[in-house]
Amino acid sequence: MSLTRKPDICQPTGTAELPMLDIYMPMMKSAAIVSAARMGLFEALAEGELEVDVLAGRLAADAHGTRTLADFLVALGYLTKSATRYANTDSTQRWLTSAGQIDYTPGALWTHEAWSMMGDLSSAVAAGTPQRSLWDTMRDKPHLGPLFSRYMQAFAQDLGPDLIAHVPVTDGQTRLLDLGGSHGLHSIRFCRRYRQLNAVIVDMPSALTDTAQTVAKEGLSDRISLHPANLLYLDWIQPCDVVLYLSVGHNQQATDNRRVLAEIARSLRPGGLLVIHDYLAEEPLNAFHAAFRLTLLYETGTRTYSDEEYRGWLQEAGFASVSRIDLNPLEKGSLLLAWR
Ligand SMILES: C[S@@+](CC[C@H](N)C(=O)[O-])C[C@H]1O[C@@H](n2cnc3c(N)ncnc32)[C@H](O)[C@@H]1O
Repeated sequence: MSLTRKPDICQPTGTAELPMLDIYMPMMKSAAIVSAARMGLFEALAEGELEVDVLAGRLAADAHGTRTLADFLVALGYLTKSATRYANTDSTQRWLTSAGQIDYTPGALWTHEAWSMMGDLSSAVAAGTPQRSLWDTMRDKPHLGPLFSRYMQAFAQDLGPDLIAHVPVTDGQTRLLDLGGSHGLHSIRFCRRYRQLNAVIVDMPSALTDTAQTVAKEGLSDRISLHPANLLYLDWIQPCDVVLYLSVGHNQQATDNRRVLAEIARSLRPGGLLVIHDYLAEEPLNAFHAAFRLTLLYETGTRTYSDEEYRGWLQEAGFASVSRIDLNPLEKGSLLLAWR
């Protein structure tokens, strides 16, 4: 797999310090990639290069408009151009088409929605909390829940093999609880790998709209059930062997994580395993982490937590041992495995 560094478009001449370049260029970069994804441009090139007129025809778009967008995508390192033909770069093919490794197009579609929300970021900063939480917004705009789940599904496809490689499940372990399990992909993967497992997926109704259908398509409806609920109500408590808490902790307040982890500890049978996936905060925060915290401030009014904070809650809850695995590449986050 060849990895190519994309150009730093905020310093196009290598000498600029003009702040407008930092303001204007990322906006245009995002707008171009998101528009291309929405129009199906990367997917149209998934089978090979195309003349611009043919490409425009496939998108039912104007040829001049398509060329103008495509030329900027070349400058961004998302397309290549030879004469009048455009093609996906290896990286675009890998991450933004159905022919690649993981198709993050739902992430681009989600970003289109998140954009208008982020216009109001200063209100959340001024108040120190969202004007309206993402979960409430999802109730008002029902198309957002399934779209967010599809976006999370792309991450889950990427993370799945790491989970199977690092999470040991023994023959005697039969009950899996997938808190914040959303699209159901993680429960499906574990149930396929371990024939003795049955799973319960707990998530808010807005996140579970397509899950029953996905589970049925996999022929697992008799082994995976859904529990639509706010997990903070703790009505999911039942004896279990493995609990997944994957990318859910950063959506909760610290006091709620402490409470939920204590209940998970009470639910786990002896020898049971809690698997946490998260982006563990380390000072000084790198740019990605600081951006993610700002997103959380706006969306849910929560934050990311450190290794020490998680270990403190786990110790207090009575977990016997905890081990940490930092995933590769680092943007994939970390796993904390905690045994009862
Ligand atoms: C970042 S997504 C992760 C989804 C999935 N676990 C994964 O790793 O792909 C967080 C999920 O937690 C769910 N969630 C967050 N807070 C919740 C709550 N209080 N009750 C139920 N579900 C919650 C969200 O609806 C969302 O599906």
